[in-house]
Amino acid sequence: MFITLEGPEGSGKTSHIPRLVEYLREQGYVVFSTREPGGTNISEQIRDILHDVKNVEMNPRAETLLYQAARAQIVEQVIKPRLANGEVVISDRYYDSTIAYQGYGHQQNLDEVRALVKYATGGLTPDLTILLDLDVEEGLKRKKNNAEEWNRMDALKVEFHQRVRAGYLELVTQEPNRWLVVNSAQKWEAVQEDLKRAVMGRLEK
Ligand code: TMP
Repeated sequence: MFITLEGPEGSGKTSHIPRLVEYLREQGYVVFSTREPGGTNISEQIRDILHDVKNVEMNPRAETLLYQAARAQIVEQVIKPRLANGEVVISDRYYDSTIAYQGYGHQQNLDEVRALVKYATGGLTPDLTILLDLDVEEGLKRKKNNAEEWNRMDALKVEFHQRVRAGYLELVTQEPNRWLVVNSAQKWEAVQEDLKRAVMGRLEK
């Protein structure tokens, strides 16, 4: 079972995943959690290039390709072997981030972006994708309070982030069976409960 969490900036994925993983382990599942971009030595190095606020001149095509390079590495080195081993793999972001950010956000050709994503992943699609949905300005405000996490993508204009969120909502309508939406504006505990319910609902199917 391959589960991915997606969402605009500040939607809380990173704070929710550790507790969710702990809960699933208590239920007896073997769980491996990771994040994108990152999760391998090579992918973390690519992450540093992508998110360095000094790299203001980065071209959207170069950006799209670097995310795919980081992804190709983690898919082959980590995700596929873990899935083959019967583990539940949870990833903080996966290819829908590329479609939302590089496709809808940077307004690049969606068919071309999808073709790159397919090449990078070898066609590996999540079984379940959860969108932690949140108002864009609220999310950016939350993230700004954490200077350590502020990155080059966060620094893009608010209209960019609004296109990203609208893109995610469009992706949900295109594949309603794969996606579940959780309202991240709720209290932390309520969001966590919704996440557990969503994941358990799928694992117990
Ligand atoms: P985060 O780890 O704080 O979520 O930061 C990851 C950033 O990278 C976030 O701004 C979204 C962005 N991103 C893309 O633009 N495309 C991608 O394919 C991925 C995985 C992330």
